[in-house]
Amino acid sequence: MEPRKQTADHRGIEAYRGSLLDFTDDPATSTDPSSGVRFIEDGLLLIQDQRILASGPTPQLSQSYPELEPTDYRGKLILPGFIDCHLHYPQMAIIGSYGEALLPWLERYTFPAESRFAHSAHCTMMAELFVQELLRNGTSTALVMASSHPQGVESLFAAAERRGMRLISGLTMMDRGAPSELLLSPEKSRQEASKLIKRWHKHGRLSYAISPRFALTSTREGLRAAAALRQEFPDTLLHTHLAENTQELARVAELFPEARNYLDVYRQAGLVGPGSVFAHGIHLSEEEHHCLAENRATLVHCPSSNLFLGSGLCNVAEALRRGITVGLGSDVGAGTSFSLLKTMAEAYKISTFHRSPSQGPLSPFQAFYMATLGGAKCLGLDQVIGNFTPGKEADFIVLDPRATPIQALRCEGEPALEELLFSLLILGDDRSVVRTHIAAD
Ligand code: GUN
Ligand code: ZN
Repeated sequence: MEPRKQTADHRGIEAYRGSLLDFTDDPATSTDPSSGVRFIEDGLLLIQDQRILASGPTPQLSQSYPELEPTDYRGKLILPGFIDCHLHYPQMAIIGSYGEALLPWLERYTFPAESRFAHSAHCTMMAELFVQELLRNGTSTALVMASSHPQGVESLFAAAERRGMRLISGLTMMDRGAPSELLLSPEKSRQEASKLIKRWHKHGRLSYAISPRFALTSTREGLRAAAALRQEFPDTLLHTHLAENTQELARVAELFPEARNYLDVYRQAGLVGPGSVFAHGIHLSEEEHHCLAENRATLVHCPSSNLFLGSGLCNVAEALRRGITVGLGSDVGAGTSFSLLKTMAEAYKISTFHRSPSQGPLSPFQAFYMATLGGAKCLGLDQVIGNFTPGKEADFIVLDPRATPIQALRCEGEPALEELLFSLLILGDDRSVVRTHIAAD
């Protein structure tokens, strides 16, 4: 990454010059593929007090603000920071482990890796590395599953706070179906989560997600403890997994015979509503889609993980058509990269299996929307982050679509914006990220 250069005029306005791209709406909601897209080829992004002051064409804005000395990113793209709506911080060290499928992968690699978070020194070291890795990949906000150890959550929040980063996390609640050292009784996890919420929720840019891991590691009492916390702290998020793998579905049906379907397990416990964020949702019925949409709960598409574990090909277009908000998640460590560019590439490939006469695969505009404003909507943060609307927190990234020799070759002849973005998401990775600017910098 480039060394930082920051120039501010006497009013404390910082200016950045480059090609500005952000979104005001989901391009998928219109027949016009560029609906909701804001692109300014030679633009200025102005920041004051860590908020977006203005964005617009350079000739216009430099007339209104003649004293500006912009940091020059011409030839590069300036976008809002990426938002990773689902990943696991204790799984960083087991990324790319030969797991075959979800349940054996959890047993063999994931639970042993998470057990190591009983040691504070390990948590501190991993949290620092994790936050660095997010930022290195252009991710400025993330919804993160931690381990079931309070010290793991503490370390992660502390590392994000040091960077001024917006991050949402919470204690992973499990009271069965995992090694005993990872289990907490419903009462104990409620107490521990409650302490963490009081310490960290809405502390600066940090907030809390109540996080029962999934139906197979919770009893009914465990899920009810999560719902009770949610009632006590209604502006927290609810974060869990849903309908990822067919073996998982069969086991859920055995453990919860009274539930109509997987989502109904959570619904009966009182966990489905606005602010409920469900990772995956690959194997869902029409009824479950309706229940999610009606209750304004959201889904997170995790394509890299879904391919890695052979979980299935999530039909995102169908979920969107049924009115569900869908964000994008790397799902590290089942996902094989922190890069949301690489995650978008996997989402595109999966979407090619769902094309219809009226709809092609995921467009590059849709993909970048999902990684920015779409992600903010998924996490209920679209009034705060996700695009360059004045007043929003000024997290932004600078991407180089010509970062590698092959990318430079691919971009010869000045491709149109959609072509350029598509090549960036298919070929790009951490090397494409020139800078990640966090609003607290
Ligand atoms: N379902 C329950 N736990 C997990 C996890 O850690 N990763 C994934 N991909 N799915 C899960
Ligand atoms: Zn996950």
